[in-house]
Amino acid sequence: MQTSWQHTTVLLGEAVDALVTDPDATYVDATFGRGGHARLILSKLSTRGRLVAFDKDLDAVAEAATITDFRFSIRHEGFRHLGELPPGSVAGVMLDLGVSSPQIDNPERGFSFRFDGPLDMRMDITRGESVAEWLATAEVQQIAEVIRDYGEERFALPVAKAIVARRQERGPVSTTTELAELVAGAVKTREPGQNPATRTFQALRIFINAELEELQQALEACLVVLRPGGRLVVISFHSLEDRIVKQFIAKHSRDEFDRRAPFAAPKIMALKALDRIRPSQAEVAGNPRARSAIMRIAERVAS
Ligand SMILES: C[S@@+](CC[C@H](N)C(=O)[O-])C[C@H]1O[C@@H](n2cnc3c(N)ncnc32)[C@H](O)[C@@H]1O
Repeated sequence: MQTSWQHTTVLLGEAVDALVTDPDATYVDATFGRGGHARLILSKLSTRGRLVAFDKDLDAVAEAATITDFRFSIRHEGFRHLGELPPGSVAGVMLDLGVSSPQIDNPERGFSFRFDGPLDMRMDITRGESVAEWLATAEVQQIAEVIRDYGEERFALPVAKAIVARRQERGPVSTTTELAELVAGAVKTREPGQNPATRTFQALRIFINAELEELQQALEACLVVLRPGGRLVVISFHSLEDRIVKQFIAKHSRDEFDRRAPFAAPKIMALKALDRIRPSQAEVAGNPRARSAIMRIAERVAS
């Protein structure tokens, strides 16, 4: 297995400063990746502090296994499982969403239209269907819906029709290059500086990994596991993710009144929004993958 692909951590200092408020407490890094945030978090903790990490990716878990520190543990599972930690036991949860650079840059993983490889895109290759397997049987309407909803692609229907027509004529699409070529033939307008397959690849990746559902579940779980004063720090890389995070924080930052019971006590807010941070120009210049990042920080309020 090649392990030379690197990941440059986004908003490293800003995220960890926002997350760690008590060196003696337990933290969760829900997206270990290559451990950029995790290592800095560990450096801020005392011997009583703990860091529990999650990642769906086997290579990320293999990297985590090289950290020999009794305060650290890694779980090979989706971050929606963070709700299994004891209620109120955690002082901060960090979510650095999406894929890591090693996942994108390894052709074998099938995430990128820039390299020829099997059309897989699963973060966890030990479970579930690959994109190629799903596209081999899905209906035109299902494919179009995914590409429209998760890729915001105007040409979702023509792309879906091209995928199914090709399946009927020559068998299912099985590589990233084949899919990128099919999409390029169906997308009729070009966005400057963007490959026509960008939106379709993003959509299929989000769908096959159930990224948005799992994010929603993890956010709900944070309300349970975070102790009062605990921090939620989320870095998103596209508008669909950021909208979920923003709406979640907004929804739980208001006292909720039940209109049908106007004299009942309001449901007290569970979160306080603290900040929204974008990477500096200098960071984006050094790491172009940081350009779309938005970090939101909220604090668990005693309720
Ligand atoms: C952007 S990278 C994180 C990089 C990390 N913060 C670092 O500094 O090295 C995102 C990681 O989260 C993992 N991931 C994405 N969605 C996940 C989920 N639902 N559950 C667990 N891990 C997930 C991916 O496999 C990937 O390794």
